[in-house]
Amino acid sequence: MQAIVYHNYGSPDVLKLEEVQKPVPKDDEVLIRVHAASVNAADLHLLRADPFLVRLMGGGLLKPKNKILGADIAGRVEAVGRNVKQFQPGDEVFGDISGCGWGGFAEYVCAPETRLALKPASMTFEQVAAIPQAAVIALQGIRDKGQVQSGQKVLINGAGGGAGTFAVQLAKLYGAEVTGVDNTGKMDFMRSLGADHVIDYTREDFTKNGKQYDLILDVVAHRSVFAYKRALRRSGSYFLVGGSVATIFQILLLGPWIRRTSGKRIRLLVVQPNLKDLAFVTELCEAGKVVPVIDKRYPLTEVPEALRYLGEGHARGKVVITLGSNNKT
Ligand SMILES: NC(=O)c1ccc[n+]([C@@H]2O[C@H](COP(=O)([O-])OP(=O)(O)OC[C@H]3O[C@@H](n4cnc5c(N)ncnc54)[C@H](OP(=O)(O)O)[C@@H]3O)[C@@H](O)[C@H]2O)c1
Repeated sequence: MQAIVYHNYGSPDVLKLEEVQKPVPKDDEVLIRVHAASVNAADLHLLRADPFLVRLMGGGLLKPKNKILGADIAGRVEAVGRNVKQFQPGDEVFGDISGCGWGGFAEYVCAPETRLALKPASMTFEQVAAIPQAAVIALQGIRDKGQVQSGQKVLINGAGGGAGTFAVQLAKLYGAEVTGVDNTGKMDFMRSLGADHVIDYTREDFTKNGKQYDLILDVVAHRSVFAYKRALRRSGSYFLVGGSVATIFQILLLGPWIRRTSGKRIRLLVVQPNLKDLAFVTELCEAGKVVPVIDKRYPLTEVPEALRYLGEGHARGKVVITLGSNNKT
């Protein structure tokens, strides 16, 4: 089968289309013919080994352990392992397979049945491939950790990207007054998602304009904890989803002290991928209450271009890799 493979860490230039062996499902796994896969910032982190911590946390110290990236996948079951109970050949499935081998940027991938859900008939492979990682991050940030209530002021930093797009829509759904922060080119896009206010991070620092929020969800954190504390209302919460290692360490070190002395919570959000949350956001998408926004589609051969596009910050919402001809159902 064909797959996009990388043997060394680096830029998207190190990714090559190669002929590799078709995987064989283990007893608890399903073999899927991939029809669509979405690109996430996490793919870029693994590709570049940036942050360096990626190498120490199972990515592979000198060379990447998993040679094929791609976590969010959607496709048709081709074969099942002997212990698989929920799926059979022909079923249309999707899910987030990060943490269990990755490998979505390929014609076929194996995944444990516990990471997969049935694709709703009313949605396309591309639409469901855009959901898993980004939407579950957003759901856990807005609903579970943030516990957003109607009327609260919520700021999403990185609101025009994959997770941010879902976070803005979910925060609006829970009745919040939402501020989206992203680059100059995404102001109208964030408004179109429902953001009440938008901030261009190239012109304004949201931690220095005197405004305060009940919840800040940050997918691109790089400031000091004291800047975030300043932007929080009394009893407000800040959650880092993604960001610099320096900010992560500061939060781990000083977050508990800030909580004790000011009542403001500054913490990391460690996302727990799970099917219950995936089902919840997918139902919202099916009902049209949340839209998986797909900016661009690329064929498998152009995964490097897709990652470049995401890495350069152009993506409005999700970027999807489309394989095969049948993506309409
Ligand atoms: N915590 C966990 O358990 C967990 C699990 C999985 C993934 N993650 C992380 O979650 C994050 C998800 O990101 P994503 O997929 O939504 O990324 P994305 O699609 O790349 O979106 C990030 C957005 O932030 C914008 N941005 C860049 N710098 C900014 C700044 N200084 N201020 C405001 N906006 C800025 C980007 O635009 P420009 O670059 O054009 O400016 C882009 O629109 C990743 O960092 C990933 O590693 C965390």
